[in-house]
Amino acid sequence: MTSMARRIPSQIFRSSLKTLNRAHIGSLYHNPRTFSTSLPRLANRAIVYTSTGNPSEVLSARTYPSLGPPPQGHVNVRLLCAPVNPSDVNVIEGVYPVRPSLESLVGSTESVFVGGNEGLGVVQRVGNGVDGLKEGDWVVFAKAQSGTWASERCVNGSDVVRIPDMEGGGRIGEVQGATLTVNPPTAYNMLKEFVDLKAGDWVLQNGANSAVGQAVIQIAAHRGLRTINFVRDRDNMDELRIQLHGLGADQIFTYESLHSKDTISHIKSLTSSAGGIRLLLNCVSGSTTTSLARLLGANATIVSYGAMSKQPLSLPTSLFIFKNLSCKGYWQQRWYMERGRTEREELMRELVGLIGLRKLREPEHEIVRIGGGLSDGEATQLVQGVMDRIEKGHYGKKILFKFDTVDS
Ligand SMILES: NC(=O)c1ccc[n+]([C@@H]2O[C@H](COP(=O)([O-])OP(=O)(O)OC[C@H]3O[C@@H](n4cnc5c(N)ncnc54)[C@H](OP(=O)(O)O)[C@@H]3O)[C@@H](O)[C@H]2O)c1
Repeated sequence: MTSMARRIPSQIFRSSLKTLNRAHIGSLYHNPRTFSTSLPRLANRAIVYTSTGNPSEVLSARTYPSLGPPPQGHVNVRLLCAPVNPSDVNVIEGVYPVRPSLESLVGSTESVFVGGNEGLGVVQRVGNGVDGLKEGDWVVFAKAQSGTWASERCVNGSDVVRIPDMEGGGRIGEVQGATLTVNPPTAYNMLKEFVDLKAGDWVLQNGANSAVGQAVIQIAAHRGLRTINFVRDRDNMDELRIQLHGLGADQIFTYESLHSKDTISHIKSLTSSAGGIRLLLNCVSGSTTTSLARLLGANATIVSYGAMSKQPLSLPTSLFIFKNLSCKGYWQQRWYMERGRTEREELMRELVGLIGLRKLREPEHEIVRIGGGLSDGEATQLVQGVMDRIEKGHYGKKILFKFDTVDS
């Protein structure tokens, strides 16, 4: 890792790395219920790195020959777009508990890591022995760290999952497809698996404008749950309020308002008639989350899924003793590793159903096009510039890469 990389801490899981048992994670990865572990191969233009470090320094764009016919059991997939998620940054920094494999891409003797975990692909060619996929199908990647920041990939047919059409026909949007496997399922499952919530109950969350937070607001609203949403203050706070209310947010506050006794008593009076708040979804950790925990009612659960403040989570012991507080963690990757393909497909159908009902919109986003006319040097500069902006924070939108194929 470069010295710069050492100065820039990870956005999530750095502290959890100390406690996570890597051997356990490795064994989960080889769980026979998970998907094939065969490596994706080949790419046309790809965003790669050869050693971990600061993404704005170690990433580069490389052009490779176009794909040949897929071998037995494989499909060629053209990437339509692929997001940059906070965990992608952590993977490149080398501080995430799951690492991609080094790959030898066609036409090159150098082994590289290809960036990107999720993305939307369209099947271009189907090799012999692949069932259930045909040319033109839209697919997502079932295998973690598939290296989606590329224009094309050749992957094992069992490492992709076809996206179902919406009820009545028609496809979901490109951005919805490219961001379907990480954030919406995380929001959906956190609202479903920890507390038995019924319509009218309150859910408290921080990082409410994150892509996960936006999905939480919408899925909660669809279920008749009410949300109290905390975000960082910003110049365009009114704009953000309008956006989040538009998604179905009930209450929106900045962390600064936790210093106001009026806000605290307002929240407590809002929620007490419904038996108090029983679920806090924690994207941020740090001292503001400690303050949010004090707003919870009896027998509540805190579900932590991110640590964007890069601070630990500290909780008063009294909340455990006198309010019977429970604290859990959630990792969508673990859910995928522990469940079978059928459950994964059911969850995806559920989410596509919500999209079809217009109950789940794409996250606020910006598409960065890696044009086919750019040289690798120019494409590298573009990608490094994006990563630099993300590292500086307060980006406010999900970035997605969209690659043109490069003639080679
Ligand atoms: N455990 C899981 O399975 C799982 C699944 C999905 C995501 N995640 C995690 O969930 C988090 C959000 O992911 P995402 O894709 O939704 O991210 P995103 O759309 O990029 O949003 C990032 C959010 O973090 C906030 N943030 C950034 N730095 C912060 C800081 N220092 N203090 C407080 N808030 C800060 C941002 O607020 P501003 O707008 O104010 O910058 C924004 O709300 C990440 O940590 C990600 O790794 C975990």
